[in-house]
Formats: sequence, structure tokens, C-alpha cells
Amino acid sequence: MPFSHPLVIASQTLPLNQSLATVAYIVAAVLFIFSLAGLAHQTSAKRGNLLGIIGMVLAVGATIFGVMNGGYLWMAAAIVPAILIGVRLAARLSMDHLPQLVAILHSFVGLAAVFVGISSHIEPGIAVPDGEMLIHKIEIYVGVFIGALTFTGSIVAFLKLAELIGGRAVTLPGRHVLNLVLMITCVGLGIWYCRVEGDDALVPLLIMTAISSLIGVHLVMAIGGADMPVVVSMLNSYSGWAAAAAGFMLKNHLLIVTGALVGSSGAILSYIMCAAMNRSFLSVIMGGFGSGAGGPAAVVEGTTKEFSVDETVAMLEEAQSIVIVPGYGMAVAQAQHSLAEVVKTLLKRNKEVRFAIHPVAGRLPGHMNVLLAEANVPYDIVLEMDEINEDMSDTDAILVIGANDIVNPAALDDPNSPIAGMPVIEVWTAKTCVVMKRGMATGYAGVGNPLFFKDNTYMLFGDAKQNVDAILRGLQR
Ligand code: TAP
Repeated sequence: MPFSHPLVIASQTLPLNQSLATVAYIVAAVLFIFSLAGLAHQTSAKRGNLLGIIGMVLAVGATIFGVMNGGYLWMAAAIVPAILIGVRLAARLSMDHLPQLVAILHSFVGLAAVFVGISSHIEPGIAVPDGEMLIHKIEIYVGVFIGALTFTGSIVAFLKLAELIGGRAVTLPGRHVLNLVLMITCVGLGIWYCRVEGDDALVPLLIMTAISSLIGVHLVMAIGGADMPVVVSMLNSYSGWAAAAAGFMLKNHLLIVTGALVGSSGAILSYIMCAAMNRSFLSVIMGGFGSGAGGPAAVVEGTTKEFSVDETVAMLEEAQSIVIVPGYGMAVAQAQHSLAEVVKTLLKRNKEVRFAIHPVAGRLPGHMNVLLAEANVPYDIVLEMDEINEDMSDTDAILVIGANDIVNPAALDDPNSPIAGMPVIEVWTAKTCVVMKRGMATGYAGVGNPLFFKDNTYMLFGDAKQNVDAILRGLQR
């Protein structure tokens, strides 16, 4: 049967609305590329976001009006509630809940790829030439495999990030062998799937879907707290490849391009994060990190020294160079706006004030940058860890606000620590360091922090927002 999908054969004469849809798809793909380029920097991020929104509206409009041929009621029944739920969720969401939202959104993409794959198998919807049937089946199989793994893996990531289950690595004995056996079984089922037709082929497809879902759970459960950022960005990448696979099944070029953009940018981000955290990409994927070198981690104990708000204000007034290290607690407390006022006051007094941002501070790549940008902190004083770490020893005063794992010296000193090898901001080398947090709780990775007991470290206990407000009042007195 001739291949007749409107968006596939450029040489064939296309109806006007379909030709316009093709043009709109190309424009949307270009907008997505510019959107990604814009998102690469804070100053252009808003523009990047806007271009992405325009591209998506164009893509959905072109699909509805140029490609679809009926079924509008079904489409409306899916899209209208989705828009309403999405808008309501986004409007109500506070920044500290963003990471789990991103994780659950990845799971939707995975589930969509599973649905598209299984329904493409039952009813292809497009004409597949006989010679291309094998390729079409491989597209379905691979798409469903990645989709199911992304779906369940993202749900586990969501549960971990929302702290509905523990963040620690849960590892089964012989987990690598188990993964290998499950993968080999999936390859075997794939061969079976390609050799049989119709309902008979549905059996290996569904068994593989169940196994792949299991692999997703197993892989992400085995990853410990501090390595979760890499997992989230990898699941982002997988969701892109799942979308690209769905694009191949539906012969939709825009979906292929968009999926490939998400898939490759997510993979690059994962790689960058692994490099920043001194982790091996493969080991993180296989759940090999998060459990230290094997021996017990060193016991962290000692006596802390406390600072009052007034003592912290006095330290800031005396200091000439000040570095602020924000972490997840700043996001929880929503302290960024008051902090921006403190920074303004200090800058007016001609002090050198800079922020040090760890690549995995908070719960989302760029989490701290977004919060500081929201509070209008000037971009030029917000530096990445690599840019500022060696200046720490020349710094008079450091304010650690709601950060814990990213300033934990055990990462460098204790080879058995679950975060061993992860680069951290070396705040303890400064003249004085004040750590603002509510109590002695551990951070996301669940490991004790010897920083709190160092000679030049003082604890300022309490909610970060309330304490920053009090510091601001103290500075303005
Ligand atoms: P954490 O190590 O999670 O420490 C945050 C600290 O903030 C806690 O110890 C908590 O101590 C304190 N805190 C919470 N609410 C507070 C409040 N209202 N006021 C003051 N302090 C408050 O954060 P971090 O240093 O930013 O490190 C991030 C961690 O999350 C890393 O382990 C990282 O691998 C992981 N992670 C990151 C990402 C990304 S991509 N950034 C994604 C997933 C996981 P108290 O309860 O004692 O106050």
C-alpha cells in the first residue's frame, strides 16, 4: 500500500491546510531550538520560555487544524481538562514543589509513549508499507520499553522528591545481575514480538511493558539521595526519547524533532551534572552510587557554637568580603526576597557580596538561580561553585542559608560517606561561617555534617526567612 501520511511525502501534492501545518511544524521546531538556546542563560531565559510557549501553541494548533481529520470532540475532552488542571496546578505551586512536579510530568510523557505504542500495535492509524513493518514494530517496541521505564522511574523519583518515601538508596542483593537478566529477557521478548503478528504479538509486548516498568522502579529505588539530581535529568532525557519514539510510530516529524531535542539536552545536562558531582554517568544509571565505598561512614559529633541575630549582624558589619551560600532551606522558607534586601543594604555600604551556587543546590537544576532571579538579585554577583570556591579562604564572612549537603566537608574527608567525592563549597576555609537552619537535621542525602562543629562555624538556628528579616532589621537600625 502506498505510504500516504500527509506530513511524510513532501513531493506529493498536499491539501493547503496540511501544507500550512507542515510549515507550522518547521517553524515550531525552530522556535523550540531557539527556546533551548534562550534557556541556557538567566538573562535570556524569559525569552526562551516565551518562544517555547509560542512553538507549542503553534504545534498543537497545526495538529488540530491541519493534520487531524475528525475526532475533535475526543481531542477537546482530553485537552480542555488538561489545560484547566495544568493552569490551576502551576498557579498554586510554590517553588519548592517544582522538582516533584517536573518528575511527575516526565511520568506522563512515558505513559503517553506506552499508550501510543500499544495502540499503534492494535491499530496503526497510518499505512505502513510491507517492507517497513519490521522497522515499525521495532519503533513500537523500543518506544514502549523507554516509555514504561520512564513512567515508573519518574513516579519513584516523584515519591522520593515529595518525601512520600525515603530518599536513601534501596538496593537488592545482586541488583546488577537482576537488571542484566531483565534486560536480556526484554531483548528475547523483542525477538518474539517481531516474529509474530496481531494478538499473538501483543503478549510479548505486554510482558515487556511489565518488565520494563519493574526496571524503572528498581533503577531509581537504588539511587541514593545526593545522586537524585542526575536521575531527574536522566528521566527528563528518557521522556524525550520516549516522545521521539512515539513520533516515529505516528510518523510525526515534529514529535521526533522535539523528542530528540529533549532527549539530547537532558542527556547533556545529566553528563554535565555527573561531571560537576564527580560521578560516573554509567554508575549513576546503574544505581551504583549513593552508598559510599563500603565501610561505615565516620560518626559525626561535637559541640556547636551558636550566634544570635545581633552577632550575625555585627559579623556582616565588620566583614569586607561576604559570600552567601543558599540551599534548599532558603527555597522552603522563601527567604530570597528578604535576602535580596540584605544584599542591597550591604552593597550600598561598599562591601563585596557574592553568592556561591552549587550545581545541585536545592532540588532542581538551577533552583537557586531561579529564586534569586525572582528576587531581582543582580546576575553578576551570582557565581557558580567552580568560579568562587578558591576565593573562600580569602572571605571574611560566609552565610550558609538552608544549605547542608552542598557544604558538607565529609564529601572530601570521609571516603565512606554516601556523598564521598562530590565537590562541595568549602565554606569552612573562610574566616567566619554562620549556618542558618532550624535545627540539627540532616540534608537530602541523610548524612551528618562535620561543618557544624568546626572552630570557625556558628549556628544561627530558626526559620531562614524569619532570621533574614531580623538581620535586615538589624542592619537598618
Ligand atoms: P539539603 O542538603 O537538603 O539541606 C537543606 C537544609 O535546609 C536542611 O538540612 C534543613 O535543616 C534546612 N531547612 C529546611 N527548611 C528550612 C527553613 N525553613 N529555614 C532554614 N533552614 C531550613 O539542601 P542543599 O544543601 O541545597 O543540597 C541539596 C541536596 O538535594 C543534595 O543532596 C542534592 O544532591 C539533592 N538533590 C538536588 C537536586 C537538584 S537538581 N538540585 C535534585 C534532587 C536532590 P533543618 O531541618 O535543620 O532546618
